[in-house]
Amino acid sequence: MKKPHFLLFLLAASTGLFAQTQVSLTIRDTAGPVISRNIYGHFSEDLGRCIYDGFWTGDHIRMDVVDALRKIRVPVLRWPGGCYADQYHWADAIGPRKARKRTVNTTWGMVSEDNSFGTDEFLQLCGLLGCQPYIAGNVGTGTPQEMENWLEYLNYNGKSTLSDLRRQNGHEQPYHVSFWGVGNESWGCGGNMTPEFYSDQYRRYSEFCKNYPGAPLKLVASGPNGDDYHWTEVLMKNIPLYHTWGISMHYYTIAGDWEHKGSATQFGEDTYFKAMASCLKMDEIISKHAAIMDKYDRAKRVALAVDEWGIWTDVEPGTNPAFLFQQNSLRDALIAGTTLNIFNNHADRVRLAALAQTVNVLQALVLTDKDKMLLTPTYYVFDLYKVHQNAKSLVVQLASPDYAYAGSRIPAVNVSASRDSGGAIHVSLVNLDPSRAMTVNASLDGISFNSVTGQILTSDKFTDINNFDQPAKVKPAAFDGARKEGNGFAVDLPAKSIVVLELK
Ligand code: AHR
Repeated sequence: MKKPHFLLFLLAASTGLFAQTQVSLTIRDTAGPVISRNIYGHFSEDLGRCIYDGFWTGDHIRMDVVDALRKIRVPVLRWPGGCYADQYHWADAIGPRKARKRTVNTTWGMVSEDNSFGTDEFLQLCGLLGCQPYIAGNVGTGTPQEMENWLEYLNYNGKSTLSDLRRQNGHEQPYHVSFWGVGNESWGCGGNMTPEFYSDQYRRYSEFCKNYPGAPLKLVASGPNGDDYHWTEVLMKNIPLYHTWGISMHYYTIAGDWEHKGSATQFGEDTYFKAMASCLKMDEIISKHAAIMDKYDRAKRVALAVDEWGIWTDVEPGTNPAFLFQQNSLRDALIAGTTLNIFNNHADRVRLAALAQTVNVLQALVLTDKDKMLLTPTYYVFDLYKVHQNAKSLVVQLASPDYAYAGSRIPAVNVSASRDSGGAIHVSLVNLDPSRAMTVNASLDGISFNSVTGQILTSDKFTDINNFDQPAKVKPAAFDGARKEGNGFAVDLPAKSIVVLELK
């Protein structure tokens, strides 16, 4: 009778079931940077069904989508691209809708573009969301004159033909647009430039981006593609940093390769593991770009704006491949939680980020089907993490066990923590291990508290999604797995889960 038990023991030991699941964490309240709320920003390109069908019906903004996004306190929204920004001519899409130019979106699917959603509609959307607009200007096919005119239309309070045109189009007051991208992915779809050539373009274009009274610009230069450190080095050396608020960086989580990214819903642990390893690379990429930036800007005045990130998978079967419509699973929520922890822990340099892309495109927060709408697992991560917005970051030290798969290893647990203006501490923890629960033992330095409460986001399978048949399969729930222990706390983190704790 004893033999089978012994064999089971051996089997369990050899498959890692008895491996360490204790995690030790220290949280210190030292003088850390504020976590800019703009890290929790979003990106909405004129691509597929993001604007049309997503935000815009053809003649009005969808208030169901706006109401959902208001709840998570979207701080900033980027538009009109992406790659589309460098083929976009703003003057085609203002004034009476029937008289607007009809153009072709040659970047995304050669679809006919009626331009019914343009500058004034975008600014109206931002007003409804209560967020800051972030407009990407056209360097690829535009001119400095066109960019200068757009800014005058938007931000000039005095009398001019362009500011009068804005008034005629229904907006008396200037919009005070501040975040301004000088091109997008200029190393690729934005014009295939070298960093040296782009640096010169930036010098030229940015010279004509004027600060109108009440609207000082925050100019964002088109930065590197993922781990292209050379691009960052050349930019930091050559562009006028006194006239630069930030440089962008784009990095997508890919579970396969660019040709075969893998399904958003049908995948096994091999693909899950690869996606998590790819997502965690964000930490190394930010650290290395930040180190280069430090050489030219020790005061960390120039921000790193990760204004495109998220998981990019194959499109849903039967949908237009150029529309980049993908479903969103618990796996993707774990990626969002992990990435936001990485941003929080780099708050000294990362002061803006934008998940790609809000509605119906890539790692969306909201999916729509005609007049129906649902919230994805990723939406709920932004809902849980909104407590970090503008809070002071705390220093975290974590000794995580590995999550091992097929001979490769990544840290199973990641974390970030902050103290808000009311004194409450928030700790966001992610357990990427799909099979093993972890017990985190936290000791606190310079922090005292009386109670700990929490919320959790998890589901039975990492492939679980919300769809129009089951729109609330993956959603947060109250969490009772954390307890105060001495001056610290212990928390039982279920496998593949995101937990956000509040210490008061
Ligand atoms: O988000 C989709 C595309 O990815 C954007 O248009 C582009 O900037 C990036 O390559």
